[in-house]
Amino acid sequence: MICASDSLANDGKGIRFEIATECGPQSAFVVRHDGKAYAYLNRCAHIGIELDWRPGEFFDDSGLYLVCATHGATYQPDTGTCIAGPCRGARLTQLAVYEQDGGVYLNRE
Ligand code: FES
Repeated sequence: MICASDSLANDGKGIRFEIATECGPQSAFVVRHDGKAYAYLNRCAHIGIELDWRPGEFFDDSGLYLVCATHGATYQPDTGTCIAGPCRGARLTQLAVYEQDGGVYLNRE
């Protein structure tokens, strides 16, 4: 389990976690938007560094978009597509997650 479902507020603070990859452990995060959980690698499509300006703070002031703290790349929270900033058109790497019995889980299939 990544986290409890009720620990993710809609358009609120996200939860950071790590996943094992071929390249070793990588930072990732999950947020809730429109009632649904979305997870991504915590790696900006611009220069590959973490997005959050403070741990877990991924949404911009409007609460509508994910934003990279370094140069302001702005991403749609449901698709991970960059809609403004230096990597416009690029995407975050999305991770499949599902919710069950009050928890958010990584779908490893
Ligand atoms: S590193 Fe994210 S916008 Fe530049």
